[in-house]
Amino acid sequence: MSGHGTPIPMTSRPCGPLRGTAHVPGDKSISHRALILGAMAVGETQITGLLEGEDVLDTAKAMRAFGATVTNHGGGAWTVAGVGVGGFAEPQTVIDCGNSGTGVRLIMGAMATSPITVTFTGDASLNGRPMGRVTDPLALFGTQAVGRKGGRLPMTLVGAADPVPVRYVVPVPSAQVKSAVLLAGLNAPGQTVVFEKEATRDHTERMLQGFGATLTVADTDEGRVITLTGQPELRPQTIVVPRDPSSAAFPVCAALIVPGSDVLVPNIGLNPTRAGLFTTLREMGADLTYENMREEGGEPVADLRAKFSPNLKGIAVPPERAASMIDEYPVLSVVAAFAEGVTDMQGVKELRVKESDRIDAMAKGLRAAGLQVDEGEDWWKLTGLGHGNVPGGATVASQLDHRIAMSFMVMGMATQKPMRVDDGSPIATSFPIFERLMADLGAQIVRANTA
Ligand code: S3P
Repeated sequence: MSGHGTPIPMTSRPCGPLRGTAHVPGDKSISHRALILGAMAVGETQITGLLEGEDVLDTAKAMRAFGATVTNHGGGAWTVAGVGVGGFAEPQTVIDCGNSGTGVRLIMGAMATSPITVTFTGDASLNGRPMGRVTDPLALFGTQAVGRKGGRLPMTLVGAADPVPVRYVVPVPSAQVKSAVLLAGLNAPGQTVVFEKEATRDHTERMLQGFGATLTVADTDEGRVITLTGQPELRPQTIVVPRDPSSAAFPVCAALIVPGSDVLVPNIGLNPTRAGLFTTLREMGADLTYENMREEGGEPVADLRAKFSPNLKGIAVPPERAASMIDEYPVLSVVAAFAEGVTDMQGVKELRVKESDRIDAMAKGLRAAGLQVDEGEDWWKLTGLGHGNVPGGATVASQLDHRIAMSFMVMGMATQKPMRVDDGSPIATSFPIFERLMADLGAQIVRANTA
């Protein structure tokens, strides 16, 4: 598990053009949900294209601990024989979700309305993150939670023996919180209703409908209203996991900043609740095109082609777009460093409670690499220096955060001097083939702290 072993220092050196085709791994959000809903269905769910990163493997292990039979058939093909809604057994040991906020929060929701007691823990990053945002709404179902100060893991949840349905307004834009409430609502009688002011990724809603739950979504002036009818029998599904737009972001952004690059990233899910980065990059003047647009499994999918973009401009990213690109601000800020002018990112408070405080982690590394960054509680601004003008030459603390590590490795491909991270091991949580995939395109990333 990342962060538990020896740190892996990494160095990325300025490189020649990136060229070729980058097949990025399966979508992390969809992979977690496929395993969890598979475990809550009656019968065998078949999954292909599952992300085999540490985060998802921890969720697979957890589903086994709850009694599901989870089998890896190789090459991303998995089956899950589920135990049905309300059928979770009490795990015999602590559930360790590693680095994964999505894993722990969704699993808490899934077990919250079953009469079992479960203790959760994670790595140093996860054990520092707030869980009250999930245990507060779960308490409305009748679930009890005892954790460390500030609602931190390790934490024990006692599932509600007689759950009641809940109406809940999600107070922060969080798909994890929304999903935890919906998964808990599965084993409550009657209708559970979730209101969200800003639309967040909707994979849980789509997948619940696919598994046969009665779930409706109404878009109103005040936001989205999601109504789930509890205690369905979920039917097993065949799930083809699309490739992850959040992973695609790294080769795409690298191609935009390395002179002469031309990279194709096929089969990327362009669900509007996830695609905000690509819209933003195009507004900045990126040569990024969608080829072969199509629909697969109810989701829009395209092949992305990214080429070196010599005339990038800083822009103000609209705050209402934040939820659709929340994981992509770190790598966006890297592209912004190579643009002319200021990139202004507002309404992004949630970045402070991710695997790291991502505004802090990026600002520190960008400043060390020669950039000016200004920040407030829910905003940050970066003044780009333009192509060829970004000094680099810094070592950055990745703070157990895969996206911080990968962002600075992308940056080092186009800075004047190499960029280093103290520990690249967290990359394995979401993108285990990152180094090989980037090397195949022409990047020069080595596992060493060298100049
Ligand atoms: C995720 C939701 C987002 C995102 C995370 C994955 C999900 O977190 O940052 O990487 O799969 O539901 P929040 O719900 O905290 O915004």
